[in-house]
Amino acid sequence: MQAKNDTGPVAKQHCPCKPPLMTFGGPPCDFPPQKLPEVMTQHDKLLIVDFGSQVTQLIARRLRELNVYCEIHPYNKIDDAWLKAFAPRAVILSGGPASVYWQDAPMPPFTVFDLGVPVLGICYGQQVMMHLLGGHVEGGHGTAEFGRAYVSPTDQSCPLLDGWYESGAEQVWMSHGDHVSRIAPGFEVFGTSPNAPFAITADMSRRLYAVQFHPEVHHTPKGAKLYENFVRMAGFTGDWTMDAYREQAIAAIRAQVGDKKVICALSGGVDSSVTALLIHEAVGDQLTCVFVDHGLLRLGEAEQVVAMFREHYNLNLIHAEESALFLGRLEGVSDPETKRKIIGGLFIDVFQKYASGIEGAEFLAQGTLYPDVIESVSFSGGPSVTIKSHHNVGGLPEKMGLKLVEPLRELFKDEVRALGRELGLPASFIGRHPFPGPGLAIRCPGEITTEKLDILRRADAVYIDQIRKHGLYDEIWQAFAAILPMKTVGVMGDGRTYDFALALRAVTSVDGMTADYYPFTHDFLGETATRIINEVKGINRVFYDCTSKPPGTIELE
Ligand code: XMP
Repeated sequence: MQAKNDTGPVAKQHCPCKPPLMTFGGPPCDFPPQKLPEVMTQHDKLLIVDFGSQVTQLIARRLRELNVYCEIHPYNKIDDAWLKAFAPRAVILSGGPASVYWQDAPMPPFTVFDLGVPVLGICYGQQVMMHLLGGHVEGGHGTAEFGRAYVSPTDQSCPLLDGWYESGAEQVWMSHGDHVSRIAPGFEVFGTSPNAPFAITADMSRRLYAVQFHPEVHHTPKGAKLYENFVRMAGFTGDWTMDAYREQAIAAIRAQVGDKKVICALSGGVDSSVTALLIHEAVGDQLTCVFVDHGLLRLGEAEQVVAMFREHYNLNLIHAEESALFLGRLEGVSDPETKRKIIGGLFIDVFQKYASGIEGAEFLAQGTLYPDVIESVSFSGGPSVTIKSHHNVGGLPEKMGLKLVEPLRELFKDEVRALGRELGLPASFIGRHPFPGPGLAIRCPGEITTEKLDILRRADAVYIDQIRKHGLYDEIWQAFAAILPMKTVGVMGDGRTYDFALALRAVTSVDGMTADYYPFTHDFLGETATRIINEVKGINRVFYDCTSKPPGTIELE
């Protein structure tokens, strides 16, 4: 069956991380519903009921930017009792690919409209609202709308629209096949577009609001204003700040851990660093971090991490210097997946070896983020393919009989960065480009040798130095050099050279799921290539990788 809503350019452009929408195979209610979060229940909460839109996470982002605590829950995981216990101060019904007329079409519990709190329906959420409350929804018939549209005011008395219509018609982003053909009793129209006569409607006495477009995407330039008005009407005070979070998370960690010991795999990346600092603030010396040095780190990286956490923060840190073990096992291996499996397996063994020396450890800290724990409504597009097996410490807690401490589970990445700033983590750590667990191994296609790693480290350092000197580091999502498995001929001075070729990669991205190459100027590329060849013995040719993802991946392996 064809998807009816939330398909088209907006979905692809803004949140391409979910599988293609193929069929609506959403399971029937599989109660018991999800557990309430333990850390944040004292905050005013906004509930986002997810109907499977590819941009639902963006709704949460917009709300968190307004300092409103919200959670996304799939429509089929909530029932009346759950809703009552969750006690949201407001509810948003997301978009989704279904049609209200499908058999088993996804529906929220009807009580959502009887909670007495403001409810905002977006796209499919709007259609559900109309359908359940006595309006009428119709299929396409030539009125489908995908892309930019302009909504004109019909009446400006709705508080959802305060300060919204400033210049007549406002640009919005539509992505729907079905449309509302009759609004439910009690609703009035506040905005209309050529293909969506009921673009903005509300039943103000019941505090129910509905929009056909997507205010969360950036093609609806003033969408944030609608969310701001909505949360203001709901009485949110903007109490979700990283300052408040820090205090509550520390209290929650203390309550969970008691006087027991915690271990943490610290990589120096922003997630593990913030996790470690937060837990350290909560339980001090009960925390021991293990920094596994696999010999595949960048120039000076191990020294920086150790100095920072051991000396500056005075944190118990084990520097597990195991490069000989890792590089020994990788000798002669050139297959990318084999490399990843060897590194992943050894990482767990090494971590376990050091961790089991910490007597009485009962908890393992992990930097799990909110996007990793959001349960998505599943629209299966066929079997998923392993593109690359990512490396992490998954599986360890069961193997070692450890309980998890995950103090970042409620946070998005930029909130983690803000929390890092609260904890005094230097900007150089907070704004760091991501670095993969297998490190330089996957930036050294073919066999890994210490000679190649040494050349790569020095070349990468020059490249990053160039990027910083030109003030480009923060504009780029990730940049690195990779040493290619080939030598080429060159001429330096009067002599022939036969040295390695280097690839430079720099991408812009939001989440690493899709990426575009960064458009350096020719001058920058020329200057960088010259510097690398002059300063790094062993490189005589430099390429710039202009591949986007897809079809490429960010790393070379
Ligand atoms: P790809 O190459 O899959 O990378 O486009 C997407 C992002 O993921 C990072 N990456 C990893 N991160 N363990 C990690 O922690 C891994 O095994 C791994 N492989 C890739 C990569 O650097 C990029 O940011």
